[in-house]
Amino acid sequence: MPLVSSTPLLQAARAGGYCVGAFNVHTLEMLQAVVEAADELRAPLIIQSTVGTVKHLGADYIAAAATVAANRSSVPIALHLDHCSDFDLIVKCIRAGYTSVMIDASHSPFDENVARTKQVVEVAKAAGVNTEAELGKVGGVEDDIVVEDQDAMLADPEECAKFVELTGVDTLAPAIGTAHGIYKGEPNIDFARIEKIASLVTLPLVLHGGSGIPDEQVKRCVSLGMAKMNVATELRIAFSDAIKNVFKANPDENDPRKYMVPAKKALFEMAAEKIRLIGAAGKAGDLK
Ligand code: 13P
Repeated sequence: MPLVSSTPLLQAARAGGYCVGAFNVHTLEMLQAVVEAADELRAPLIIQSTVGTVKHLGADYIAAAATVAANRSSVPIALHLDHCSDFDLIVKCIRAGYTSVMIDASHSPFDENVARTKQVVEVAKAAGVNTEAELGKVGGVEDDIVVEDQDAMLADPEECAKFVELTGVDTLAPAIGTAHGIYKGEPNIDFARIEKIASLVTLPLVLHGGSGIPDEQVKRCVSLGMAKMNVATELRIAFSDAIKNVFKANPDENDPRKYMVPAKKALFEMAAEKIRLIGAAGKAGDLK
């Protein structure tokens, strides 16, 4: 089926008490691996690319590859632009075929975040594209966005409700204590805050920093209303480690297929594990 907006996928997930995996990919093989995992488990899927990957590969190449993957698949798949603060790039990605975008103006003051999000919502809604926005500041490293621990800031529940009302945004990523990248210790997730936000905001909520959260804590986040979980670092590690292992065993290997096949398999398995963990397996039919 063609690429779909992530809005209905995420609304069904919030209503059904499960979560859709949103997986960051950087190569064609990574994109194929996550789609194959979703297909095998009959799960809805969001393929994501960061701004860095859009600059590296081109929005048109990524959208074309995602379109082919979606057309070959029978599960609903959306293509999402992760953490973008550049309005023109968001428009470019929508034109290229992205069906979901994130405007990240979380580093701006509240009123400016509202204004910049509203501007994207207007354009995206007209194109039938989902808009995600962030409130508070998620710590850690994502692409070239670095938020030091002391600068990370949790989202205020009342502000979340006000933000949603003022912007008309489709999905909200409130900072609740997770971070991008691998945690030094255990994440310090504020579950009471998620609960409060979910009681005030009926939209699907987005859990950033999905790598390295203990399984029980992920499940708790999902049960509280998180309907989209972003995973990047753990997928990259699984993919890269498999390539490193090939070169450890055979440093002279020079056929890309010889290291891409095991890398794809490792990523497939990691994506499948995450899909099962968040309860998305078997949920593809919710959208038909
Ligand atoms: P991780 O790299 O921690 O999985 O975070 C991914 C993410 O939230 C992308 O927006």
